[in-house]
Formats: sequence, C-alpha cells, structure tokens
Amino acid sequence: VKVVTTVAELRSHTLPWRAREGVTAFVPTMGNLHPGHLKLVRHARAIAERVVVSIFVNPLQFGQNEDYSTYPVTRERDLSLLADEDADLLFMPVVSEIYTGMPGHTTRVVPPRELSSILEGKFRPGHFEGVATIVAKLFNMLQPEVAIFGEKDFQQLVIIRRMVSDLNMPIVIEAVETVREADGLAMSSRNSYLSTAERGIAPQLYQTLLDVRDLLLRAGHTTAAIEQAAMEQLREAGFGPDYVSVRRCRDLGKPNGDDADRVVLAAASLGGTRLIDNVKVSNT
Ligand code: PAF
Repeated sequence: VKVVTTVAELRSHTLPWRAREGVTAFVPTMGNLHPGHLKLVRHARAIAERVVVSIFVNPLQFGQNEDYSTYPVTRERDLSLLADEDADLLFMPVVSEIYTGMPGHTTRVVPPRELSSILEGKFRPGHFEGVATIVAKLFNMLQPEVAIFGEKDFQQLVIIRRMVSDLNMPIVIEAVETVREADGLAMSSRNSYLSTAERGIAPQLYQTLLDVRDLLLRAGHTTAAIEQAAMEQLREAGFGPDYVSVRRCRDLGKPNGDDADRVVLAAASLGGTRLIDNVKVSNT
C-alpha cells in the first residue's frame, strides 16, 4: 500500500484514477485498525476499482476531557493489515496538513441540531461538528465516488448521510454491519482500554440491546419503560449508562408505536472507558 501524507500527493495519485479508472471508494479511519475497519476496506475492494483509506486522529472531534492525546496509534500494524487487504493508497496526514491554522479556528460544518445534540451529541458536545468538518474536508481532498462507514457509529452514519444530501456532495455513502467479538462485544479501538474484569462485563451492553429489541418486538410495554429497565440492567451489571434510546433509523426521531424502522442505541461507561453500540429492531 502506497502511503501519502500531503493533500498534493493524495491528489496527484487520485486525479488520474478519476479520469481513467472508474470508481474510487474511500474508508476514513482514525487508525488502530481492527476487523471492523477491515470489513469496510474489504467492502470497498469489492465495489470499487481503487481503494483509499485515511488514518487521521482528528482533534476537532474530541472533547477537552476525552482521549485525544492517548488515542491508540499502531501505524506499522495498520500498514501491514491494509497491505493484506490490497488497499491502493493510505492517506496519513499530520494535523498541520489538515488544519493549516489552529484546529479550533477552522471553518466548520455544523450538522442540524436535531441530529447532533441528541444521544452522543448530548454527552459529547461539538463531537459531530468535528466529525462532519473532517469528513467534508477529506471528501473535498479526495473526491471519492463512494465512502464506507460502519453501523457501529450509527448516529455518525445518519449525520454524514444528511450532510452529503444537504450539501449536494456527489458521493454515495455505504454502511457496513458492526463486527463483533465471539461474545458479542462490538469491535472498537477503545476496547483496548478495558481491564480484564471490565472486558468480562462489556458484552452485557450488546445483550441488553438484544433484550430491548426482543421486548419491543413482543410489545406490551411502553418504549420509555423498556428504556428505563435497560438502564437499570446496565447499572446492575456495573456500567454507568448514559442512555438507552429507541429511535427511527432514518432520522433518529422518536418512533411512533411499532414503527418498522427502529434502532436501539446505547452508551455506557465501564470504569474510564465509554462504549457505544446499537441493534436494529427490524433486523431479526
Ligand atoms: O469513525 C471514525 O473513525 C471517525 O469519526 C472518522 C469518520 C474517521 C472521522 O474522523
């Protein structure tokens, strides 16, 4: 896999492809690649002539007390994994290449509040503005035909689809299902922060979401009661839950009754590690 670090180099490789070689698919990441990322790259490889991956830990999407400075960096390993997946190009810029001034003083893409101030946005103010801004910038730098995102970050996916539609970006957004460990824990770079004891408890987040899904499908309870019971279930397991919430998949609005298009989303901390996950209700 060829590695480039500047926007000029990125364009010098990809512009000729656009003229001659068909579809370029893009997989943006923050590195510390795991099987969830590799599934995105494999999907890109299956649908496009050229596959570009980026690794950039974006300071703009981290809050002040979050893990920007300790976010795991595993560059050599990432490179060898991407070579195994036959990616064509890896864009790995430094912060000053992306934010030519101070990151905090850049022009920003502001997603609509009804999508960005709820769920993750309520607990991570400014996070989705940081995500939308970097993704828009990367899209402008590369101008891919297709970009691939994981369903694990479900709210991020909805917000990016909305940005692409609202800003008329000629890019198809494709979603790939969450990859899980054998015990159900959604793969995430942050799982490496968990202690052995916390790792033993962590799969109960997914189990709780499956329980919520089953209860919703059997109905008989109100959604609010089911959400509250799930929060309690997480507390009893040792989590500090931020939310368990049933939403419409397409716009994250509150669903009406047994709306067919539903997803249960949750975020909960285990010690110092914050985990998120989601399960679609119609996906049984
Ligand atoms: O999902 C992520 O890893 C990041 O939010 C993304 C999309 C690469 C933007 O920094």
